[in-house]
Amino acid sequence: MERFLSRDARNFRPSAIRAFAKLINDPSIISFAGGVPSPETFPAERIAEIAARVILEKHSVALQYGPTRGLTRLCDFVAAVCRARGIDCTPDDVLMTTGSQQALDLIAHTLLDPGDVVLVELPTYIGGTSSFHARSAELIGVAQDDDGIVPDSLAEVAARTKPKLLYTIPNFQNPSGRLMTQQRRAEVLRIASEYDFLVIEDDPYGELLYVREADTLAMKSRDDDDRVIYLGSFSKVLAPGLRCGWIVAAPELLSKLEIAKQAADLCSGMLDQSIVDEFTAAGELPAQIEKVRAFYRKKRATMLEALEEHFHDHATWTPADGGLFTFVTLRDDIDTAALVPEAISAGVAYVPGAPFFVDGSGRNTMRLTFAKENDERIREGIRRLAGVLNF
Ligand SMILES: Cc1ncc(COP(=O)(O)O)c(C=O)c1O
Repeated sequence: MERFLSRDARNFRPSAIRAFAKLINDPSIISFAGGVPSPETFPAERIAEIAARVILEKHSVALQYGPTRGLTRLCDFVAAVCRARGIDCTPDDVLMTTGSQQALDLIAHTLLDPGDVVLVELPTYIGGTSSFHARSAELIGVAQDDDGIVPDSLAEVAARTKPKLLYTIPNFQNPSGRLMTQQRRAEVLRIASEYDFLVIEDDPYGELLYVREADTLAMKSRDDDDRVIYLGSFSKVLAPGLRCGWIVAAPELLSKLEIAKQAADLCSGMLDQSIVDEFTAAGELPAQIEKVRAFYRKKRATMLEALEEHFHDHATWTPADGGLFTFVTLRDDIDTAALVPEAISAGVAYVPGAPFFVDGSGRNTMRLTFAKENDERIREGIRRLAGVLNF
């Protein structure tokens, strides 16, 4: 079979953490390893009511093929959401996608030739790297610190590698939980302009913020020369099974992405879009976002307190002012992947950090989510983890 595979298929890489996540569905294990929203945040009854109504009363739309760009009223809503995030756009600038994951794939398909260089943050989202690897791109890491991408690192790598694209997640990044400062966002765009590359700004977590002072204004709000391809998603605030994400980009690029999408799936699921459209048109999203924030805010506080109690003096971790994750950095000689079996035996699971780093570093890091467990299990899990690490 190997001889029939395309050149791109030979570069496909399975997600290192998806394979791992399968192992930790055991309820006796306290899991900080997942990467998904809690089902407790899904407004399931409302979704069921809306689904029944759109199927019975609007089936000529909800069960039919639809426009590749997306359901018109939903595009209007998304454009308004983006304007609230500081982006100057109209519904014509929006392409609805089957989750923002499809957006990454369409962009990679439309922009990348084999060997093109894509810059990614160290660490970065594995679904992003999968999409770029699948088009045989070369991935090169740029350093991050607590303020986001380090401009000197970006400029140095850009000068050396002539990238076509930078992939960044400025708001509460997966996996690091970091928020890039507005000053860094401006510097990143200045460097993108100087070295002439495009920027994918992936923003599924911007609304999930737990502190008042976090400034999540989109990088695209400063995009004077149409360099930024902005991605959004309803997955983290509503339900990821609804597979509704979007792209806002320059018109010439958006029409190419639309053609790529026609080839991929003609249109995103009309039932999913219809449900999200009815929910948002009824004005229910702001209250839903408040509920989701309140749900995670408490768990995040519990995890940070437990880390302070048990990891103090032994490790550093990111503040997780938003999003679903905190990222822990341990002593240089600790290999978190090697410790997974011991942690599982102790009844606790995490994701080792190395797969998130395209340069092979990060062996002494781990990603912890506070999304899944209740307060008591979060405290107990961190205590067990400290035991595994001999703290
Ligand atoms: C940074 C990032 N981008 C994109 C996605 C994909 O989200 P969606 O459900 O919109 O496809 C995720 C999901 O975890 C993510 O963390």
